[in-house]
Amino acid sequence: MSRYAAWRARADDLESSGLRRTLRALVPVSSTRAALPDGQVCDVFSSNDYLGLAEHPDLRAAMQSGGAGAARLISGNRRGHDALEDALGEWMGRPVTLFGSGYLANLAVYATLFGEGDLVASDAQNHASIIDGLRLSRCARSVLPHGSARIPEGTTAIAVEGLYSMAGDLAPFLDLPSPHVSGSPMLVVDEAHAVGCLGPGGRGVASSFGITPDVVVGTLGKAFGAAGAFVVGPPEVRELMISSARPFIYTTAMPEGLALAGLVGLGLANDERRERLAANTARLRRGLAQVGVRAGGVAHIVPIVTGTHTMQMAAALLKRGLLVGAVRYPTVARGQERLRITVSAAHSGEQIERLVEGLAGVGV
Ligand SMILES: Cc1ncc(COP(=O)(O)O)c(C=O)c1O
Repeated sequence: MSRYAAWRARADDLESSGLRRTLRALVPVSSTRAALPDGQVCDVFSSNDYLGLAEHPDLRAAMQSGGAGAARLISGNRRGHDALEDALGEWMGRPVTLFGSGYLANLAVYATLFGEGDLVASDAQNHASIIDGLRLSRCARSVLPHGSARIPEGTTAIAVEGLYSMAGDLAPFLDLPSPHVSGSPMLVVDEAHAVGCLGPGGRGVASSFGITPDVVVGTLGKAFGAAGAFVVGPPEVRELMISSARPFIYTTAMPEGLALAGLVGLGLANDERRERLAANTARLRRGLAQVGVRAGGVAHIVPIVTGTHTMQMAAALLKRGLLVGAVRYPTVARGQERLRITVSAAHSGEQIERLVEGLAGVGV
């Protein structure tokens, strides 16, 4: 028997249940178009590059640097890391700590700030990185139905996303206990899909409700066009991130060029781009309504629940030159499989019209 027979059996199970995933290498030809391995060029409606910055020449130019060679606390910290933290801190108004990714930032926040003895109320649709961070923390968890603001007695902290990555809707900020009231639970908000795009100056959904959560997680790999992430909070949070968070301490620092690219992205994320994103989103939502397609969400993430035919629909759209995300179990519940369309400020009106026609054409 093969040494890897048990792993083979598991991989075969994934294949037979239609859950095998595969990679394909795309070659970007503009912010919103990419060539597939067979040379076909398609319109991309599945990227989180919401402001169209990932291919910006200034951002690409900033990426040039060597590797950091070590964790930041050893000898990997560079001026670029400090400069990005300072700029993000000034923008958000509180100290910021950089992480290699949003996944690591959420692991760090939950596993470091909470533990046995805490009860964290977590929305059912929170991202895998929040769920994994909570598991690592060993705190007690209460999973809230998506969008619920009914917080159990004794809750230490509430974990939500500002703009939900799969449902495209917002956390119920007006109904959640205010973090500005003494004795209320901590409010921890993952603004991965909102920073740069929504709220005053792009500071996220919570800020558009006048709320300063106790802790905010933002990413640099979506609207800001680079990669990495940041945690915002009171000075105590930065101290704990640097001195105790394992995903900060035990990992090589991001290359300085990536931090500099994040800095460029932050500078380019302006109101004009945000307005274009909002206008493109409105255009798509109007177009979908006109052809009778029911879309969920309220902003630039536009899910269309299509159920078990989702993969076939995405393949049919690709034949028409439209690359749309197909989200399936276990990322979403069975029966809730969906096309996940993401809008960019860089999409043209023609691209959006082609998408609407394509969706209507494949019978979504
Ligand atoms: C809500 C949310 N949080 C965190 C992350 C992880 O961010 P990153 O891609 O920077 O690891 C994602 C990624 O897609 C996300 O959707």
